[in-house]
Amino acid sequence: MRILLLGSGGREHALAWKLNQSVWTNPLYIAPGNPGTAKHGINVPLDITDFDAIRKFCISEKIEMVIVGPEEPLVNGLYDYFKATEELQKIYFIGPSKKGAQLEGSKAFAKAFMKRHAIPTANYKEFTIDNYEEGLKYLQQHPLPIVLKADGLAAGKGVMICQSYVEAVAEFELMIQEAKFGEASKKVVVEDFLSGIELSVFAITDGKNYLILPEAKDYKRIGEGDKGLMTGGMGAVSPVPFATPGFMFKVEERIIKPTINGLFKEGIEYTGFVFFGLINVNGDPYVIEYNCRMGDPETEVVIPRLETDLVGICIAATQQELDKVVMRTDIRAAATIVAVSRGYPTGYEKGYEISGLDGKYGKQSMIFHAGTKEDDKKNIVTNGGRVLCVTSFGEDIEDAVNTSLDVLDHIDYDGMFYRTDIGYEFIPPKPGETQKK
Ligand SMILES: Nc1ncnc2c1ncn2[C@@H]1O[C@H](COP(=O)(O)OP(=O)(O)OP(=O)(O)O)[C@@H](O)[C@H]1O
Ligand SMILES: [Mg+2]
Repeated sequence: MRILLLGSGGREHALAWKLNQSVWTNPLYIAPGNPGTAKHGINVPLDITDFDAIRKFCISEKIEMVIVGPEEPLVNGLYDYFKATEELQKIYFIGPSKKGAQLEGSKAFAKAFMKRHAIPTANYKEFTIDNYEEGLKYLQQHPLPIVLKADGLAAGKGVMICQSYVEAVAEFELMIQEAKFGEASKKVVVEDFLSGIELSVFAITDGKNYLILPEAKDYKRIGEGDKGLMTGGMGAVSPVPFATPGFMFKVEERIIKPTINGLFKEGIEYTGFVFFGLINVNGDPYVIEYNCRMGDPETEVVIPRLETDLVGICIAATQQELDKVVMRTDIRAAATIVAVSRGYPTGYEKGYEISGLDGKYGKQSMIFHAGTKEDDKKNIVTNGGRVLCVTSFGEDIEDAVNTSLDVLDHIDYDGMFYRTDIGYEFIPPKPGETQKK
């Protein structure tokens, strides 16, 4: 199977690592990839927003399957472009239609979809310039905290949890009147604050059937104890101890089945990954958000725990035969710790040489490249806010985290920073310590 994987981050390195293990893969191209993906396939300098360039590449290299890593090409309609282009129609495509990608591309679309299919989520209202005054009144009478979300894609920065009316009104004005996030905040979703612990659940669907992948929990805040600014993700663990069979039964019955059935009933073409951003509120799951692709850094723990051939799963998805696939999962725990650049997520410099990447770290650990590049002396240097994701297996989460911390002890670059408390809720306190909350 001649495969093209789109993307260039830690998620794509983990996917490339897995795809390369498949009996089907031959060869694997990654566009544009990074120095890490180059170990598992052929990086090609394609711009993933340039559909015409992707078309030309797929034809010249006789590509048989395309797997899309990040959301942008999907929200921009790459699937629809493939289906509308004769030479590309036969290519197996892993990623939803433009309409399906709206589950991520539009918060308002996703909320309305959940309402239509009685999927549990926070109560909400949507506002634009047309009902702006009504919005201000709604904010005034709304209990605190209030959650404001830019409707469109905002690179993970479009959500405000407002602790006061002053803050809520100011953000509301910035979003709608001042176009804080451009087109993306012309419409704003105002929703109730849900209090609980979050987790990420992943499924792959063929539009009718679905397979549930291992779940994960990520850590978004830059600082220890979940303090400080939101980031793209500082780490993740899998499995999630409170995602018991009983809890996951609720997730499947109340959220996954109605979502897949809803897409099918509404004739929305969706072959690919569905990322359910959930929150556990006193034992009951609620949807915080959908993403129409795998998460990052969750992929770096979920995909290593997957034992079933990933290309086999993708082929079955494009043939609507996922009901024939048996999902096998590694029982070991996995933890990934993200090493970032000094100053991330606000401002950071690039180009620092990374040492220790060639160390012998044993089969239980993998170093996935998130933001790196090769300099003209062939050294691997930093090239992003998030630089490396160090994933390790372990008997339990504590063991996996400690193994990744040991690996990170041998890696270095100027300004390297990472959290040492990934998975803290699930690690019993040492004698004399209190349980971190
Ligand atoms: N209704 C809510 N109640 C409590 N917290 C919320 C709520 N909605 C969002 N959040 C918090 O804000 C974070 C970001 O919200 P959301 O996931 O909807 O935005 P996003 O920008 O799409 O994020 P991502 O980059 O993870 O896709 C959530 O992970 C959660 O911590
Ligand atoms: Mg999102």
